[in-house]
Amino acid sequence: MIGIIFGPPGSGKGTQAARIEGEFHLTHLSTGDILRSEVARGTEIGKEAARTMAAGDLVPDGVIIRIVQGILRDPDVSSDVLLDGFPRTIEQPRALDQMLASEGHRVDFVVALDVPESDLVDRILHRAAVEGRADDTRDAIAERMHEYHKLTHAVLDLYRKQGVRVEVVDGTGDVDGVFGRIRRAVGISSR
Ligand code: AP5
Ligand code: MG
Repeated sequence: MIGIIFGPPGSGKGTQAARIEGEFHLTHLSTGDILRSEVARGTEIGKEAARTMAAGDLVPDGVIIRIVQGILRDPDVSSDVLLDGFPRTIEQPRALDQMLASEGHRVDFVVALDVPESDLVDRILHRAAVEGRADDTRDAIAERMHEYHKLTHAVLDLYRKQGVRVEVVDGTGDVDGVFGRIRRAVGISSR
């Protein structure tokens, strides 16, 4: 099964992905987490991506597509995957479709978290005070929101046009409540 957890910055993708992963045995793949780990380890990819990420811009499609391709081709990675933060430009779903088609797979569902922008900024600023992620500054948050509206949101329409199941879920309220709505929307029962 290939699922995608989708939504603007701060909508709860990572938080909900951890819940979905734990309960439904999908492997959570967060491109943001992978890039942050590259930055922390000082790899070539990390050195190239660090400034772009800190400014709230998107890293080049080619870089991110190669990373995802490498993971999905890895025989040690389960074929039941929940993607978080990918795809997020119009090029990335095409590349993903090609990767999956070569294995006879396709995207099974997209869960899109819907949260008002004022809540998103509050959540991220709260995290900034607690964790201090490099892109949780006011300027970078504004740029991340801009990139989401300019480039990423269109990915949902593309999937809808392709007939992929897109479930828009209210991402406000507490974490358990959001997770309950995701379960009902996707209709995956406990295994
Ligand atoms: P990425 O790491 O994907 O960041 P993002 O999309 O900006 O989203 P966040 O991780 O900030 O938020 P989230 O939706 O996961 O919410 P979370 O659960 O953390 O990408 C970072 C950067 O990497 C990009 O800007 C780009 O540079 C690069 N990148 C990554 N993928 C890329 C790609 N495919 N192509 C190109 N570039 C790419 O929750 C947020 C906060 O709210 C947390 O503190 C959490 O505890 C809290 N919270 C969660 N749920 C609730 C709730 N229900 N109520 C109250 N608080 C809550
Ligand atoms: Mg995240």
